[in-house]
Amino acid sequence: MKKFTCVQDIGDLRAALAEASEVKKDRFKYVELGRNKTLMMVFFNSSLRTRLSTQKAATNLGMNVIVLDINQGAWKLETERGVVMDGDKSEHILEAIPVMGCYCDIIGVRSFARFENREFDYQETILNQFIEHSGRPVFSMEAATRHPLQSFADLITIEEYKRTARPKVVMTWAPHPRPLPQAVPNSFAEWMNATDYDFVITHPEGYELDPSFVAGARVEYDQMKAFEGADFVYAKSWAAYTGENYGRVLSRDRDWTVSDRQMGVTNKAYFMHCLPVRRNMIVTDEVIESPQSIVIPEAANREISATVVLKKLLEGLG
Ligand code: CP
Repeated sequence: MKKFTCVQDIGDLRAALAEASEVKKDRFKYVELGRNKTLMMVFFNSSLRTRLSTQKAATNLGMNVIVLDINQGAWKLETERGVVMDGDKSEHILEAIPVMGCYCDIIGVRSFARFENREFDYQETILNQFIEHSGRPVFSMEAATRHPLQSFADLITIEEYKRTARPKVVMTWAPHPRPLPQAVPNSFAEWMNATDYDFVITHPEGYELDPSFVAGARVEYDQMKAFEGADFVYAKSWAAYTGENYGRVLSRDRDWTVSDRQMGVTNKAYFMHCLPVRRNMIVTDEVIESPQSIVIPEAANREISATVVLKKLLEGLG
């Protein structure tokens, strides 16, 4: 594998899930694969799970790890070409990226949507600059439009907990005080659409996602109706995608907060969320603390998805 930014990059999903299962049984099985190889993790945004799980995954594979927080101690980066750099930005990303590539074998990048310009975000400008200019295999640690390491971990978790071959999986929008990127819901939809699950998306009007990610999924605006018979409930907040509302919060309606009311009409659904989660905005204390909540095993599987992805990137180094 030469890069990992979306579901297509992982190849055959069944094979990837089998690799995940193998790695989970013995996560140090490939500890020699990364000997004398260096992973650089570049963060433009904060992280807890991605940072820890990806570093742990690299350690499982015997790699050295360098972590760079762009906003803490690095030079402020200019990302636009053609700008006269007479402001507070000391270095251009077009020099910084190839320099980073000199010190490592694989690069992971976290760069969220900025919500200033939908085209800039949806063209994955920052991630693609790393792919183009680093000279190294690049993987996404959550980019502007997708979070594939999370979605792969989500899929592994559903496979572990599912009680039927073709579970009903419902992704629901939930309220949040701040506008959040669409990367997690886009990506989750992309990965669910690559399975044969019964996949339903529910959100208030105005929160329609990019149609290319929704693809064949069913959209149901009535949240209670969507939840009926669900085997898994995947909650996430996201800001509006469409038109002039791009990046805006349109609703803080706490009727959409996942509570026992909605969970009561499901098929004893498991509750999932990528974390971090705002309690009693996205989900009630009762639901997230209930036996049906699998948010911790879901987070634990981030180590497994990252180990599989790094293993495949190391194998691709040749
Ligand atoms: N789910 C997730 O990516 O968590 P972090 O933002 O803490 O890395």
